[in-house]
Amino acid sequence: MRTVALSDTVSRESAGAGAAIEAVVIERSTAASSSADPFMTVQPVSKGHARAKTDKTCNVRIIVPFSLCRRRRSPVKGARRESEFGSMMDKTTLTFGEIALPADPFAAFGIWLRDAEASEPNDPNAMSLATVDSDGLPDVRMVLLKGFDRRGFVFYTNFESRKGEEIRATRKAALNFHWKSLHRQIRIRGDVEIVSDEEADAYYASRARESRIGAWASLQSRPLENRETLERRVEDLGSQYGEGPIPRPPVWSGFRVVPREIEFWHDGAFRLHDRYRLTRTGADDWTASRLYP
Ligand SMILES: Cc1cc2nc3c(=O)[nH]c(=O)nc-3n(C[C@H](O)[C@H](O)[C@H](O)COP(=O)(O)O)c2cc1C
Repeated sequence: MRTVALSDTVSRESAGAGAAIEAVVIERSTAASSSADPFMTVQPVSKGHARAKTDKTCNVRIIVPFSLCRRRRSPVKGARRESEFGSMMDKTTLTFGEIALPADPFAAFGIWLRDAEASEPNDPNAMSLATVDSDGLPDVRMVLLKGFDRRGFVFYTNFESRKGEEIRATRKAALNFHWKSLHRQIRIRGDVEIVSDEEADAYYASRARESRIGAWASLQSRPLENRETLERRVEDLGSQYGEGPIPRPPVWSGFRVVPREIEFWHDGAFRLHDRYRLTRTGADDWTASRLYP
């Protein structure tokens, strides 16, 4: 069962009718006394205990099935009663499954991406990709994340497109994921390397035949006289390759954004959002800091 955290004063009623509370509760009172970060000590408790806690309204964080998660919002967008303000100040909305604020950004990213896969109606792997041209003028567009591991975040494109040219010139980029239904954002900045031919070939081979032909047909980012020209190119290439193998175009491959920093953001009440940034200090070493919203 997928889970997300509710960060609010929670009762069984506010968690949703029939909510089957899972077995983890974070108690702020316990956290304050035992952790460098008073917000995030996790105290696993038994299912019975969690249930008992939810019999009345109490100041705990409870993990509930995502489908039952309801954020309590004022009917007036952006407005909350001032009396709620004080109790909001000691809360964090950043949670990563059942773990405390992570020291490992890749593990944390994976948890949030899995949550997005369960919540977003389309393309949970869509991310905006920012680059700069030779004048330092920024540009941004969406691409799809096609893989990530401890080396970085991979997407595929035409290397002669605008983004391709800009990245090959600067070898730098930034990424942004925004998952609306989760009220979460992840920002990534880093250096860019080109994936190996074997990696690009393997991904290209996994694509639909039409998409493989499309990669040949599209002179991405260059002027196109009319739509028919593109369609004719697709048809001609389709006939040329027939049912045979379609090689990967030499100008089509993958970029890997190797992060220098990764920031996790979660929407908070009164715009007092939670921000948590991990900055690379060594090959696999990261330092963490909270940021003002
Ligand atoms: C949700 C979404 C996902 C996209 N994914 C990719 C992708 O993975 N690779 C790609 O080259 N273009 C992708 N595009 C198209 C790009 O946004 C962009 O239009 C195209 O790559 C040309 O950008 P450029 O001229 O800045 O190089 C996607 C667009 C959207 C809206």
